[in-house]
Amino acid sequence: NTGKAADRPLIHATPDSGWMNDPNGLWYDAKEKLYHLYYQYNPNDMVWGFPLCWGHATSEDLMLWKNHGVAISPARNDSGVYSGSAVIDYNNTSGFFDDSVDPRQRVVAIWTYNTPESETQYLSYSTDGGYTFQEYEHNPVVEFNSTQFRDPKVIWHEETQKWIMTVALCQQYSVFIYSSENLKDWTLESKFTDSGLLGFQYEAPGLAKIPVTKATNNNYTLEDNSYDVKNNDTEYMWVLFLAINPGGPQGGSFNQYFIGDFNGTTFTPFTHQTRMLDFGKDFYAFQGFFNSPDDSSYLGIAWTSNWQYSAYVPTYPWRSSMSLPRRFTIQQYSPTPESVQLNLNSVPVLNLAGDDKPSESRYALSNKALNSTANLTIPIEGTPTGTFEFTVTFACNSTTVVNTQSADLNFFLKGSKDQTEYLRLGHNAQAAAFFIDRGNTKVEFVHSNPFFTNRLSVNGEPWSQDGSYSIYKVQGIVDVNILELFFNEGSMASTNTFFLSPGNFIGNIEISSSVDGVYSILDFDLKELDV
Ligand code: FRU
Repeated sequence: NTGKAADRPLIHATPDSGWMNDPNGLWYDAKEKLYHLYYQYNPNDMVWGFPLCWGHATSEDLMLWKNHGVAISPARNDSGVYSGSAVIDYNNTSGFFDDSVDPRQRVVAIWTYNTPESETQYLSYSTDGGYTFQEYEHNPVVEFNSTQFRDPKVIWHEETQKWIMTVALCQQYSVFIYSSENLKDWTLESKFTDSGLLGFQYEAPGLAKIPVTKATNNNYTLEDNSYDVKNNDTEYMWVLFLAINPGGPQGGSFNQYFIGDFNGTTFTPFTHQTRMLDFGKDFYAFQGFFNSPDDSSYLGIAWTSNWQYSAYVPTYPWRSSMSLPRRFTIQQYSPTPESVQLNLNSVPVLNLAGDDKPSESRYALSNKALNSTANLTIPIEGTPTGTFEFTVTFACNSTTVVNTQSADLNFFLKGSKDQTEYLRLGHNAQAAAFFIDRGNTKVEFVHSNPFFTNRLSVNGEPWSQDGSYSIYKVQGIVDVNILELFFNEGSMASTNTFFLSPGNFIGNIEISSSVDGVYSILDFDLKELDV
């Protein structure tokens, strides 16, 4: 990354130049202790287009990414190496490798070859640790006489000792599930269809086996910050991730998921309802890693943009970025003794190395009741880089709300050079919901694009309850033009991009309330994420 000069996010992957969309082929190299990310890449233009390639980046700590240019490119100029995944073929089931290739680096990429005639599934393999690839000579390995059949995600199914591929028949709202013993010959086992949001194309499906965490009810109290999680022996449930475009609840592209069971041939969801993986506008085509050093959670990344406006965002000389890698677990909890609820929790991976600098807190505040006259301003000291993390715990006493006035808690994240550019986040007591308003960011862009929705909401269960006080906890990561919010220790997330004028970074946070006596800040902490 070339850094701040170009108003470029520091801890999110971006291409040096050109266009990026979906993450592809995520895998972890246990020999080199290195994470690999490939992505949909048009190196020749700042918009999506042919010949579309797989770009490549690597990271040791999942914060700083090093770009390696193009890894796979299409044979034809009117075609594309579309989205797909990568596996490590430790036991050389494919026969692509000899003993000179370390088993931990036997990478096979499975991707969609898009031509004007068809979409079919191709294999490429790498004998140099994922930097260069060779195409399998007998491609395609899966075809279905369709121009809308794409995004293979392959996993290893331990129980049946088989490879499992999910691939979307996009316009027919179906995910086809195939199995294979050698990655080359595939058998269609089942179809997952007509579930979730229908009427818009299915893209980028993915199956994953995810650890379950059993949580007791949060017993955070105002006096004593305690939060008990009972973590029993590891249990797993299966999750099917599925992207939809257009038609998402917040407009445009969105990722849904289903929790259920997978028996090696068929995925059976516990319910057919749509559940949102992220409540923001900019979290699409999520993909999980093949192999990860931490098996207590599932690690994955999404594209932080939306097909509605991705081609117009005001960055130069590149467009788009990836989310921070997130760790997913299924949280099982019982709101009442008879009921069980499941939720996919996600937390961002920050400071993976965890060693050198548990970044120092630059500002900390506790127990501050807010009234409508006194604003609190939290400066970001020194030269703002636009890259920081904040965590806030606040209490809302809605019994004191007078319903004739909107009762809001506001966080204004203001530009360092130009304070008329700001992002507003907050909570509304009557609706018991969070809001994000990016309507006062770079005005030319906000006004010129009909889909760059100003206002978004995220409904929120309180993190805990103490008498008439509902307590909420929010973690925010701001990285130049990306805001990732995690609510109540990851029970919900909302990812949104926002754009300020060149050289304008978020420089301070003003906290205020529109009413007296409803909100109090229990704890606020801000850290710059200097990497
Ligand atoms: C999802 C998607 C995929 C496709 C790729 C093309 O964003 O449309 O379905 O493989 O992007 O770049």
